[in-house]
Amino acid sequence: MTDPRTRKPVLEVEGLQTVFHDLEGAWPAINALDLTIYEGEVLGLVGESGSGKSVAGFSILGLIDTPGEITAGRVLFQGKDLREMDEESLRKLRGADLSMIFQDPLTTLNPVLTIGEQMGEAITEHGQADAEALRRRCIDTLTKVGITSPEERLSQYPHELSGGMRQRVVIAIALLNSPKVIIADEPTTALDVTIQSQIIAEMQRLQHDSGAALIWISHDLGVVAELADRIAVMYAGDIVEIGTTDEVLDRPRHPYTRGLLDSVPGDVPPGEPLRQIEGSAPPLNARPFGCPFHPRCAQATDLCRSSDPAPQGDGAGRIWRCHHPITAQEAA
Ligand SMILES: Nc1ncnc2c1ncn2[C@@H]1O[C@H](COP(=O)(O)OP(=O)(O)O)[C@@H](O)[C@H]1O
Ligand code: SF4
Ligand SMILES: [Mg+2]
Repeated sequence: MTDPRTRKPVLEVEGLQTVFHDLEGAWPAINALDLTIYEGEVLGLVGESGSGKSVAGFSILGLIDTPGEITAGRVLFQGKDLREMDEESLRKLRGADLSMIFQDPLTTLNPVLTIGEQMGEAITEHGQADAEALRRRCIDTLTKVGITSPEERLSQYPHELSGGMRQRVVIAIALLNSPKVIIADEPTTALDVTIQSQIIAEMQRLQHDSGAALIWISHDLGVVAELADRIAVMYAGDIVEIGTTDEVLDRPRHPYTRGLLDSVPGDVPPGEPLRQIEGSAPPLNARPFGCPFHPRCAQATDLCRSSDPAPQGDGAGRIWRCHHPITAQEAA
């Protein structure tokens, strides 16, 4: 596998911040997020529930509503800042060059329209096509995502399909307009394990064939490890570690990443209990002072309790955010 960082960047996120407002104030859910996505790569974005992964995905596409607000940063796609675009141009870009697949297919699918109608809409909104060409393209795309009897599916409604089929339809819609970047937010989490691995294998093939860059969001490091060229680990709204999949899995530098790795079932000898990281990600309005991970970190020192570590890097795209990073010897 070539290092994706040798390719051209397709999306550059710089200093993106999103807050949620409540009666007490404005609480950042993502904090100065910096992330570069390269052409054709799969970037896995991992972290426990509540770490800010979905907010990151929505914020990149400008899909944040009240009580949320994007308060800082830039999202450059083909040199243009999405945050400076008017809503109409942004809407055109979404569903065409940039598309998102959500965890729950029912948030994307309209219950009162047939699959064919919804797919047709997704195409015509982003360009004209005659009826027969449209139908062909829908059938081809449904076939690509592993849907049997695609002609019949076109006249069915979402509720007539199984959960796995619905999610495949959502993936098909996301692929219809040959996007350059796909953000997939835990698209298989709600499905049973067999269907989950089928869909992951299909996504891998589709992504490879289409050359789209894919941001795969998951709380499951095991799933991401199978798919991704690079992994970004999120905690409390920050990316705390990023590197190629091999770098992050074999030589983690952040204690949180180490903790996630220790809780992946396959990595523990049979019979030994999984070591879960004790505690959970902090709520937005109770972000610990200093390093936000310090209450859960065995390596925490006074420095960690008083100062939030700045990102450090090796100059080649490997980044970590910790006062006492794990050394190569310790990681081995
Ligand atoms: N609409 C919302 N209003 C208030 N807080 C929210 C909202 N959406 C998300 N959050 C908060 O932002 C944080 C990050 O959430 P999210 O991105 O959904 O986490 P993840 O996807 O990693 O599980 C969480 O603390 C969550 O409670
Ligand atoms: S900065 Fe300190 S508390 Fe935070 S992860 Fe590193 S060692 Fe642990
Ligand atoms: Mg989420």
